[in-house]
Amino acid sequence: MQETGVEAESVNIKQSRVDRLTGYDLLALGAPTQYFTASKPLKIFLEQLKGLDLKGRRGFAFDTRLDSRLSGSAAKFIEKRLQELGIDIIRPRASALVVCEKGAKPEDTMLKDGMEDLFESIGKELGTLDKDATGESGMTERQHLGWAEKEASRDRMTLSERGGEIATVIGIILVALFFYAHQAWSTGFFTSAFASTEAFLLYGSILTGMAGSVARLVTGRRNISRLLELATSIFWIVSWLFYVFPFNFAHFADMVPKFLRFLVSWITNDIARIPFALGILGGVAFIPVNVILYLMVRRLLRR
Ligand SMILES: Cc1cc2nc3c(=O)[nH]c(=O)nc-3n(C[C@H](O)[C@H](O)[C@H](O)COP(=O)(O)O)c2cc1C
Repeated sequence: MQETGVEAESVNIKQSRVDRLTGYDLLALGAPTQYFTASKPLKIFLEQLKGLDLKGRRGFAFDTRLDSRLSGSAAKFIEKRLQELGIDIIRPRASALVVCEKGAKPEDTMLKDGMEDLFESIGKELGTLDKDATGESGMTERQHLGWAEKEASRDRMTLSERGGEIATVIGIILVALFFYAHQAWSTGFFTSAFASTEAFLLYGSILTGMAGSVARLVTGRRNISRLLELATSIFWIVSWLFYVFPFNFAHFADMVPKFLRFLVSWITNDIARIPFALGILGGVAFIPVNVILYLMVRRLLRR
């Protein structure tokens, strides 16, 4: 399959996690035929799939079985179950035939000549069919889902990660105080263009930024804070609508202790405009990504 350019993963069902399956477009499921049907572990695996929403995904069933009219077929059983789950069968089932030497135990079988070649060509066929059916947008959706699954799995924060949020909150409070001190001491950093709207936008973006950290600290979950990050992005974008640059960076260092001033004294208005503009552009790009991620992670976490 990989030769056709699609990403493919081969996993033993005993090691696979069913909840990860929703991240794949095509599920090719196979098992040895035992007692005319699929082996027990495969049946257990299929039972677990009932809890997932796999409607509209694509599927293919295969098996290994003896070369006999009376062999039965695991693939037939699997194909039927996949269909019952709402999975579209992309290609009719196939069997890799095995031979059992006279007197050998039923498990001591060998693949019949030509079977490896047959399944190599089936793999390529599946890869091509999957690519045709997926198209570019499908790939993007799967990538999004993979990302959302990763985020959902790390949604619950560890104690040390929550502790790290305390440091972030303190940092943000210091930044807010730094700006407020400029205002209170009238250093000249804020120009006359800094009126109440500009103050609302500046402190609003700082406060919502802090609220995201506080939410992570209190709840120990990440996804909820995405909504608050949205608010921060909106503040940045609105500040662009009202575009004024109400700062004079010649006075930025005034509130910094003298021995540290060299660290920020090089920041001119023109230099400061760059992160300001990047923040606005980032906010525009960030909003749709954050909304999609928030909704996808929420859906995954509710399962
Ligand atoms: C307990 C047992 C029951 C089996 N029953 C069947 C059967 O009903 N039909 C059949 O074609 N093969 C049967 N076989 C043979 C298996 O299908 C064969 O060993 C298997 O497909 C080989 O593939 P594997 O090497 O991936 O296990 C049976 C084998 C075992 C061990």
